[in-house]
Formats: sequence, structure tokens, C-alpha cells
Amino acid sequence: MYICLVLILAALSTSEKSVASTPTRSSTEIVTPPAFTYNATTFLLHGEPYIIIGGQMDPQRIPYQYWRDRLAKARAMGLNTIFSYVYWNLLEPDPGMWAMDNPQNDIAKYFTIAQEEGLHVVLRPGPYICGEREWGGFPYWLSTVPGLIVRTYNDAYLHYLKIYLEKLATELRPLQVTEGGPMLMVQVENEYGSYGSNHNYTSTLRDILLQNYDVPLYTNDGTNDWTLYGGSVPDVLTEIDGGPTYGFPARDKYITDPAQLGPLLDGEYYTLAPDNWGENVAHQTTDGYPSLVEGFISDITFVLNPSNSISLYMFHGGTNFGLSNGAIWQNYSKVFTTSYDYGAPLDESGRTTDLYFTLRNLIQKYVPNGSIPEPPANIPRLSIPDIELTPMASLFDLDKPTMSKATPVPMEDLDQAYGFILYEHKITKDLEGILLPGDRARDRVIAYVNGKKVGAIDSTYIYPQNLTVSVKSGDKLQLLVENLGRVDYYSPPSNTYNALLDPHKGILSNVTIGQSILLGWDMYSLPMDELPAPARVVPTITDLMPPVYYYGDFLIDQIAGTDTRALDTFIAVPNGVKGIVWVNDFMLGRYWIVGPQQSMYLPGTVLKPGAVNKIVILELEPTFNSTTIAQGQSERVWGNFPDPDYP
Ligand SMILES: *[C@@H]1O[C@H](CO)[C@@H](O)[C@H](O)[C@H]1NC(C)=O
Ligand SMILES: *[C@@H]1O[C@H](CO)[C@@H](O)[C@H](O)[C@H]1NC(C)=O
Ligand SMILES: *[C@@H]1O[C@H](CO)[C@@H](O)[C@H](O)[C@H]1NC(C)=O
Ligand SMILES: *[C@@H]1O[C@H](CO)[C@@H](O)[C@H](O)[C@H]1NC(C)=O
Ligand SMILES: *[C@@H]1O[C@H](CO)[C@@H](O)[C@H](O)[C@H]1NC(C)=O
Ligand SMILES: *[C@@H]1O[C@H](CO)[C@@H](O)[C@H](O)[C@H]1NC(C)=O
Ligand SMILES: *[C@@H]1O[C@H](CO)[C@@H](O)[C@H](O)[C@H]1NC(C)=O
Repeated sequence: MYICLVLILAALSTSEKSVASTPTRSSTEIVTPPAFTYNATTFLLHGEPYIIIGGQMDPQRIPYQYWRDRLAKARAMGLNTIFSYVYWNLLEPDPGMWAMDNPQNDIAKYFTIAQEEGLHVVLRPGPYICGEREWGGFPYWLSTVPGLIVRTYNDAYLHYLKIYLEKLATELRPLQVTEGGPMLMVQVENEYGSYGSNHNYTSTLRDILLQNYDVPLYTNDGTNDWTLYGGSVPDVLTEIDGGPTYGFPARDKYITDPAQLGPLLDGEYYTLAPDNWGENVAHQTTDGYPSLVEGFISDITFVLNPSNSISLYMFHGGTNFGLSNGAIWQNYSKVFTTSYDYGAPLDESGRTTDLYFTLRNLIQKYVPNGSIPEPPANIPRLSIPDIELTPMASLFDLDKPTMSKATPVPMEDLDQAYGFILYEHKITKDLEGILLPGDRARDRVIAYVNGKKVGAIDSTYIYPQNLTVSVKSGDKLQLLVENLGRVDYYSPPSNTYNALLDPHKGILSNVTIGQSILLGWDMYSLPMDELPAPARVVPTITDLMPPVYYYGDFLIDQIAGTDTRALDTFIAVPNGVKGIVWVNDFMLGRYWIVGPQQSMYLPGTVLKPGAVNKIVILELEPTFNSTTIAQGQSERVWGNFPDPDYP
């Protein structure tokens, strides 16, 4: 079978060659060049050299109503190509589901708008995308499939990823440049060479993509010999990310197979970095750091002077709305904020920045005068004066446990994607000692004895708190464990493949006080997928009490001249310690006093001008008295404050 195929192919290519070289061929015959291809040095679009001046922007992190605005601004900075990750977990939240009822998932629509705005696109479908996203874009339920191991040659994994990639391709195939669409290329996996070197896996992925797309494929890896070895795939163009001055030479040094070589593309040139929570972690910004900007200019010049290609990661970051952020695991959780501002040229709220105009001026040197459109003006933002919120319900007002067992189980065993688990145990003998919620509970534990908070144990610290408790027989011990975002990347202590992407959350092993193992647990799933009904008896706020939902409402004006649109704002909870905010049932994300994020981007698309807008806050550590406030701030303030739970 195999030999037959080879013979047929050989026959075909011989006849093709003989046709091509026949001297009798009419000289007026029009030869159509491939829509997009490359030779050893140059990308070729319809036969003409094409330098990719790209930027990364992921549709699922931007309110879909703003896609056109952000894409127009990308074009107006001089970009000609948009690179986009696709988040599998949002498209397929449950196995077999395809969540196209959510307009955020309409990637085809986004690509169509990109084309209308004069941009090409490069598709980065994963299935793993890293991206500082929940489990690197994997749906959590993959972790509940018996025998399934992600990012390797594994039948169960390949089964599910094939379904995902094929469904996605059904929507995106017509948007390839070969079909008159904007799509130039498709990435195979993502920085796989940092994780492993199983070429059976990546070759299988390649073949699935080849069956579904006609445009070229490429890989994108870090620039060590071992990452390029691990991540490169036979017959697929190898590209790099990071710094081009060392990355480009590394590509050409370590990749020697001509079938993997081609024009140089820095597929992720970092225009800064994501923010993670921590009282000592400043917001990432180029404001006040001119040397950072000089470095960008120097690197981009290094790429574009010899007509190589680049994609700025990020051009526009957007927002990890809801609980969709990821984390880095380094034996502690380095957790990314709800904001994915990234210090990028277009800020989280889609406004042009000084960096935007600096890069626009730079790009102008490489494209014809007058070819870059003017960027739309930044629109003003809304200021909402203090909104009073009153207690509405208690988080611990619970019915019956989701599961009861001798030993605690992790979140995935409760078929739970996001949120919290409340683990409840009745103490059977007097105990005093350090309370250890297993081996590094994931991620943040608040402990209560008889309904009063006794402290927090937090895996975001290298050295979590040592919480000493004293309990008596008959006491109720409650451990509220918050999933702060599944790990998207494991940072190993040494320079090696980091084949570890542990999705588990909650309590992973036995809970102890001193030397005593606590057995007998009631576990309550708190997935945060809906808001509670207001309690009949509203909670009275007392010191050290469990989490409380607060409710408030407010009115806003519509934008002059429009019926339905409202301006954007940033929601702050000035007296809040840690919690979650919803506006009109849309979960914005998390706040945490430690910062650097001190307010949450509220797109005007969520607001209802001229109607009652509802705001709900879940405060994990209610220290307010009977009421609290939220505000809409028109200017963003970043900052850090000490963690009241880490002495
Ligand atoms: C690649 O194509 C470009 C543009 O047509 C051409 O200038 C260059 O010589 C080609 N390079 C090779 C190695 O064929
Ligand atoms: C790759 O596939 C070949 C052929 O099926 C097999 O012999 C080999 O063990 C596989 N290697 C890995 C790393 O899975
Ligand atoms: C483009 O415009 C700039 C400033 O207006 C001018 O200095 C430059 O010569 C122009 N370049 C070309 C190629 O026309
Ligand atoms: C907890 O105790 C361990 C062992 O004594 C110690 O290494 C660690 O620093 C302590 N953690 C804190 C936050 O004090
Ligand atoms: C993390 O823990 C593992 C297993 O206990 C250990 O081998 C590794 O060295 C630790 N890494 C760091 C960065 O501490
Ligand atoms: C938890 O403790 C029980 C009872 O001692 C024991 O059977 C079980 O193996 C322990 N589990 C773990 C993960 O250590
Ligand atoms: C409410 O709390 C604030 C600070 O937490 C305090 O200053 C104020 O006195 C309290 N008000 C009442 C009525 O308890």
C-alpha cells in the first residue's frame, strides 16, 4: 500500500516536471503562484515578498463587540497580520459540546473582521496554548478521562484533540488565503520544545492539520538547542520566540533540515509581560522605563532591517474575564491576574498608549508612506460615584454535601471546573498543632473553626503560613479552598523539559493537625457558575465571618447619540480584601488587595444605559460593617498593599 502510493507520487511528479519543462508551453499561459508560501529567505504572498509585521491578540479575551475597534487599531499601528490563540476550554466546556451560542467563540467572525480591516491572520489553535490561561487552554474535563495524558502520544488525548481541531477547521478552513480569506499559516502545538520531544505526538498533530488546512504550518519555540530539537517537527517550518538577536542565529544553527528551514519569524516578541498577584509585584509597564522601549526599538529594527518577520506578543492583551486566568507552578502558584494588560501597546481597555505611537513611528519606516491609517481616537471613560452594596447571602448557606468521604478529594473528582470547595470536618478529639491541608493545597485555603476564620494558608507563597490551631471534640472545621487558576506552565528548577502540567485543584492529600490525620469529610462544590438568590434572612456582618455576597445597583447614561451603548470604566472595591465581582450577571473576575491590579475592566458592552445595573460582590473576608461600596473609576490605578493574611 505504502509502496504503491510512493510510485504514484513519483509518477505524478515526473509528469509534472516534464510538463513544466516542455518547450512547447504557451508563453501567454498564466501561472498562478500559490496564495501563500515561502522560499529559503522570504514569505511569498501571491508570489510577492511578504514581511509579516504582526501582533498577537486573542478574540476570546476581548469583548466581541470591540473586535473591530481593536483590529482597526492594530492596522493603524502599521501591523499587517494578527496572530491569535484559540482557547479549546471555552469552545468545548463539556465533552462533545461546541459553545457557539457564546459569540466570544466565533473565531471565524473575528478573522472575517480582521480581513475587512486590512489584516491577515495566523492561527494558533493549540491544542495547548500556554497563554497564561487556565491549564494552557485545555478543558479541565480532559483530566477526568481515564488514562488520558496531555501533550503526548496518547490515544485518549489524540481522540479528543482531533475532534476539537476538526470542528474548529470546519469553521476556519474557508478563511484560508487559498480560499480568498485572510489566514496565512497555522501553528503546530505551542512551544512544545519546552515541554518534551515526542515527535510522534507532534507529527500526528501535523498530519491532522495537513488534512484540514492547505496553508503552510509552522512551529514556534524557545531558542535553546534542546527546545528547538524537541519542538521542531519534520517538514514543518521552524520558528522561534523571545529575543531575535540570539533567537534567529540559534534557529539557523540548530535546525539543519532544509525541509524545516525558511524565512525567519520571531513568532512572539515580548512587548512586556503579564501581571501576577503579589504584594511585591509591580504592574508591568514601560511608562517611566525608556530603556525598555529602546530595547524594543533596537530588536524590531534588527528584525525588519533585513526584511525578516515578527509578531509582537502582545499587541493587545485584554482580560481574563471570570476565572479564566492560568498560573505558573514552581512548587508554589504564581497566579496571573484577571487583567491581561501586559503593558502592551493597546492597553487592557483598548486605548492607544505612548508605546503604541512609538512603535507606529518605527513601523512607518518600513512601509510605504501613507499606507498606515490613522488610529481612531480614544473615547472617554465613565466615572460611577460610590455604589452602596448591602449583604445579600452567605457563601456557606449550603444545602447538602456534593460528596462525603473519609479522605478529601480534589476538585476534578467532584466534576468541578472552577471556583471553590468547602471541606467540612467534625473534630472527634481535642487537638492542637499546625493545620496542614495536605501537600500544598491548590491554591488558597481559609480555615474556620465553628464558623470563625482562624487564618489562611496560601500556596502562592514559597513558604505558606504555618497555621497553628487548637480545636476541641465536637468543633466544626471548615476549609474553603480557592482554585486560583489551573497551571499553564511548570517552571522547572533546571534547564530541562518540563513535562508537568498538573491540573488538580483543591486538597490533594490527607489533612493533618500536628501528627493526627483528620478523616471524615463533607465536600461542597462551589463552582461559581450562578449567583445565589437573595437570602431570606440577610447575614449580619460579624468579625472573622465566612464569605458574604453583597448587592447594589446603579444607573448610568447612554453615550450621547446612541441608544444602547455605554462607556467603559474600571470597577474598584475600595474596602475589599479578596473576592469576585459580577455586573449584570457577567463575572468580571477577581480582586485582591495585594495587587498590582486594584480595579477591574468593565467594558461598556456589559452595561445597560438608562436601566438598573446590578453589581454583586463576593467578599471572602468581610471586614466591612453592614455596607460597602464599589466605584467606577475613569482612570486606572495600579498598586500593591500588604497581604493581611500573611504576617
Ligand atoms: C526568495 O524569493 C525572493 C522574492 O522573490 C527572492 O528575492 C529570493 O532570491 C528568493 N530566495 C531564494 C533562496 O530563492
Ligand atoms: C513513536 O512511534 C514508533 C512507531 O509506532 C514507536 O516505535 C516509538 O516507540 C514511538 N516513540 C515514542 C516516543 O512514543
Ligand atoms: C515619507 O515621509 C517622510 C516624512 O514625511 C519623508 O521624510 C520621507 O522621505 C518619505 N519617504 C518616502 C519613501 O516617500
Ligand atoms: C513554616 O515552618 C517551616 C518549618 O519550620 C519554615 O521553614 C517556614 O519558613 C515557616 N513558614 C513561615 C511562613 O513562617
Ligand atoms: C519542587 O519539588 C520537587 C519535588 O519535591 C523537587 O524535585 C524540585 O526541586 C522542587 N523545585 C523547586 C524549584 O523548588
Ligand atoms: C490518608 O490517610 C488514610 C488513613 O490513614 C490512608 O489510608 C491513606 O493512604 C492516606 N492518603 C494519603 C494520600 O496519604
Ligand atoms: C465601619 O468600619 C470602618 C472601618 O472598617 C470604621 O471606621 C467605622 O467606624 C465602622 N462603622 C460602624 C458604624 O461600625
